[in-house]
Amino acid sequence: MNASPLIDIQQITYTYPLQNKGKSKAQSPKALQNVSLQIQPGEYLAVLGHNGSGKSTLARHCNALLIPDSGRVLVKGLDTSNKADQRAIRDCVGMIFQNPDNQIIATVVEDDVAWALAVRGLPVNLIAERVEQAMNAVSISHLRKLPPHHLSGGQKQRLAIAGVLALRPQCIIADEATSQLDPLSRREITALLHQLNQDLGLTIIHVTHLLEEAALAQRVVIMEQGRIVMEGTPSTIFTDIERLRQLKLAIPEPIELVSRLRAAGLTLSREALTVDAIVREIVR
Ligand SMILES: Nc1ncnc2c1ncn2[C@@H]1O[C@H](COP(=O)(O)OP(=O)(O)OP(=O)(O)O)[C@@H](O)[C@H]1O
Ligand SMILES: [Mg+2]
Repeated sequence: MNASPLIDIQQITYTYPLQNKGKSKAQSPKALQNVSLQIQPGEYLAVLGHNGSGKSTLARHCNALLIPDSGRVLVKGLDTSNKADQRAIRDCVGMIFQNPDNQIIATVVEDDVAWALAVRGLPVNLIAERVEQAMNAVSISHLRKLPPHHLSGGQKQRLAIAGVLALRPQCIIADEATSQLDPLSRREITALLHQLNQDLGLTIIHVTHLLEEAALAQRVVIMEQGRIVMEGTPSTIFTDIERLRQLKLAIPEPIELVSRLRAAGLTLSREALTVDAIVREIVR
């Protein structure tokens, strides 16, 4: 991991402007406090933390939706505080959000995928080619003529991902993008993000409060009160169950099970994070 980072977050601090105008920014709580994080090209990073820990605030700093009060964020070497670079930064780092309905603009699926390209004034044939590729990459080509409100939640998130992919980003940030989906769609969208990471080499920042989703990432950072409090591979982080509980994270059954099996004297590797992996190890 010595290559230059795609996203370089350097000691950033951020406080939201106060709705209550009587107080100064200095008097309100910091949403981020002295956070540093380097994200490498092609990495699959999970950002984990309970409600209000600062995950979304951190995510929004990665594509210049928010600008730090102090410290700086570089994307491909471009400083997010430089207005002239913000369009390029947002094209490089796309974002999908929790509520799929809020991301839909057009009244037909393929027009929605094309929307951001049309706004940028790209030639029609280039738009058509990119829309085609983006829809194929997320398997929604067969839905192209439908109005988006006819799609399921999972299909709408695929549509949102296609809209971002059409801009040819290097990184996609999924901010709790699965949290309003049923368990099956949730797994499918997570699998799709992993597929885009592997097949297209896209950097993925997967923001979640679910340990089971973070367990599949290459690296996990855990946030608490606007700081990064743990960082490492899932297999190292998920062995410290007590610490995870302190951080108010729900421990999924397989991880709980591993901990109890270990306590009972069984030797299980740190990679045993899913029921399948546990069974494989026990059989061996
Ligand atoms: N628009 C806003 N205005 C003022 N304060 C905000 C705003 N958005 C977030 N905050 C505050 O900043 C802190 C961090 O919030 P943030 O949304 O980044 O957390 P999160 O980890 O994404 O939480 P969640 O799991 O609920 O999405 C919280 O204390 C929150 O109340
Ligand atoms: Mg959030």
